[in-house]
Amino acid sequence: MTDLTDVTALAERYADKSPQDILKLAFDLFGDDLWISFSGAEDVVLVDMAWKLNKGVKVFTLDTGRLHGETYRFIEQVREHYGIPIDILTPDPARLEPMVREKGLFSFYRDGHGECCGIRKIEPLRRKLSTVKAWATGQRRDQSPGTRSQVAVLEQDTTFSAPDRPLYKFNPLAQMTSEEVWGYIRMLEVPYNSLHERGFVSIGCEPCTRPVLPNQHEREGRWWWEEATHKECGLHAGNLIVKA
Ligand code: ADX
Ligand code: SF4
Repeated sequence: MTDLTDVTALAERYADKSPQDILKLAFDLFGDDLWISFSGAEDVVLVDMAWKLNKGVKVFTLDTGRLHGETYRFIEQVREHYGIPIDILTPDPARLEPMVREKGLFSFYRDGHGECCGIRKIEPLRRKLSTVKAWATGQRRDQSPGTRSQVAVLEQDTTFSAPDRPLYKFNPLAQMTSEEVWGYIRMLEVPYNSLHERGFVSIGCEPCTRPVLPNQHEREGRWWWEEATHKECGLHAGNLIVKA
C-alpha cells in the first residue's frame, strides 16, 4: 500500500500518470473519505471519471447563491444522470446577511472579490473540509498561467488543514488541457453546462463571470476588473504561495 510520508515524491511519481490513475490512487488511499469538489462547469469530467471508478463517489458543490440558473440546472442534471447525491453547501446567514445589508449585492465590483468569496465560498468550504481527509478538484495548469501553472497532482493542503488533522488535495486533471477535457466530454457524451454553448469557458458566479472573445484566455472571463494574479478566490489559496 502506498503511504503518504513523502507527498512531494508521490506527486512527482504520479505527475505524468493519467487522471484515472491519480483518482485510483486517491480512492486506494482514502476510499469513501475522498470528496470531489464540483463547480458545475467542465470539471464534470472529474465527476464522470470518479464515478466510473467508484459508484459511491462523494461530491459537494459550494452554492454561493449567485450561480447562473443554467449552473443550478446542470448540477441537478449531473445528480440525476449519475444517480449520486450531491452535497450542496450554503453560506452562513449570520455572516452573509450583515455584509449584504451594509454593502449591497455587488460590493465585489468596488471592494474586490475577497470578502464576498470569503463568506460565500471559503467559509462553507472550510466547514466541509474540517470533516474530511482528502478532496479532489478539477484544477488544471492551463486554466491560469498567472496562478495555476505549478499545480501538482497531489499536495498537502495547508490552507484548510489543522495541526492535528492533515488534509490531502488531489488535482487529477492538473496536466489535462482544455482541448483534452472537451475531447473527453464530446467523445464520451458527458453532460455539460449549457453556458458553454454561449461562449463561457471558465464558469463561476454569475456577476463575476462573462464569456470570452476568440483567443482571449479563459481566465479573462473571471473577475475581469481585477489583476490576473489576484484571480483566485481562496479555494486554491495555496496557488498564490510562490513555489521555488
Ligand atoms: S475558482 O477558485 O476560480 O472559483 P475554478 O472555477 O477555476 O475555481 O474551478 C477549479 C476547481 O475548484 C473546480 O474544478 C472545483 O473542483 C473547485 N470549485 C470551484 N468552484 C467551486 C464550487 N462552487 N463548488 C465546488 N467546487 C468548486
Ligand atoms: Fe461573490 Fe463573485 Fe466570489 Fe461569487 S465569485 S462569491 S459573487 S465575489
